[in-house]
Amino acid sequence: MPKLTLDDLTLAGRRVLVRVDFNVPLDGTTITDDTRIRAALPTIRKITGDGGTAILMSHLGRPKGSPDPAYSLRPVAEYLGGLITAPVVFSDATFGDEAEQVITDAPSGSVVLLENTRFHAGETSNDAELSKQLAALGEVYVNDAFGAAHRAHASTVGVTEHIGQSAMGYLLQREVEYLGAALDAPSRPFVAVLGGAKVSDKIGVIRALLDKVDRLLVGGAMSYTFLKSLGHNVGDSKVEDDRLDEAFKMYDGARSQIVLPSDHIVADAFDNDARLRVTSGEIESGMALDIGPHTRAQYRSILRGAKTIIWNGPMGVFEMSNFAAGTLSVAEAIVEATRDNDALSLVGGGDSVAAITQAGLADAVSHVSTGGGAMLEFIEGDELPGIAALSDR
Ligand code: 3PG
Repeated sequence: MPKLTLDDLTLAGRRVLVRVDFNVPLDGTTITDDTRIRAALPTIRKITGDGGTAILMSHLGRPKGSPDPAYSLRPVAEYLGGLITAPVVFSDATFGDEAEQVITDAPSGSVVLLENTRFHAGETSNDAELSKQLAALGEVYVNDAFGAAHRAHASTVGVTEHIGQSAMGYLLQREVEYLGAALDAPSRPFVAVLGGAKVSDKIGVIRALLDKVDRLLVGGAMSYTFLKSLGHNVGDSKVEDDRLDEAFKMYDGARSQIVLPSDHIVADAFDNDARLRVTSGEIESGMALDIGPHTRAQYRSILRGAKTIIWNGPMGVFEMSNFAAGTLSVAEAIVEATRDNDALSLVGGGDSVAAITQAGLADAVSHVSTGGGAMLEFIEGDELPGIAALSDR
């Protein structure tokens, strides 16, 4: 690692300021997916175990730069308290005298979670004054928020200019090691699976992947922009008409790599109870909401032979049970390749991670990334600002 890591720091008796990504889905005050909280535990446990105080900061949601109770991290502090033995204290203040007092009162070996950094407009503008205030709360800084490492914010970038050492936490390190192993020296065949609604969100990623992968399997609504650009009838399927030229050029330059669905589950309405049919070739009417059985079998056979796999984005509208088969079949094929073919498999992006978790298969792939946008930007090859800002080794 070219950057300092947690193991390079002296933690005993020190205040360790840690940026985590506790941007978790909430239903009221109930956490509906705790993956990101659990993923930060090794770093937190290391700090408290060594006798340091872990001062955690995170954003939650997208409040408008001022306090909004709906986005308070208090429920997360309570939840975290149930996962670790160290005492967890919540600070209503994100910085300043009140936060300082909470930290001073907390015994060594405990955890303090500060209120949402995005309750302050200076967070997203990477304001120098807020960065200084945050830095004043710790003696060393650790970034363990891979999911937010593509954001140049006060708590991910600015803070590093006002504190001595800044290091990668265990989660950030693990994410970078897995992605680096897949992208820099992949065992072949290297297969990527990309899904989701829009080609426009993934153009940079598709280009970057085409330089590296042997096959790129496409699913989700973005398939229909590609298919329409090739002159196919896609009925009422979702299409980005302003991206047809771009999609055509991308496909045309990579015909041996890009694989598009050849059959589809077509519905007469965007509804789980809509009338369904399987269509291969042209879609004369209705909208395609999942890949069809032939495509599922084809993708499965390509994936089972792969040695390196990256997956981001569902194959269909998997939230509706009648359009979940394509996404599930990709998840199962990736698990089989990991188990039977010793493939290195990485899954990222909110929807793919939700799908693999719902299927109970998250432990059966090599790595489930906590980053959505961050993973895509990493693949695009940009150095993520939250990583670039850390101290060089
Ligand atoms: C995410 O959920 O992808 C990260 O927490 C970043 O959140 P943001 O897109 O609101 O910056």
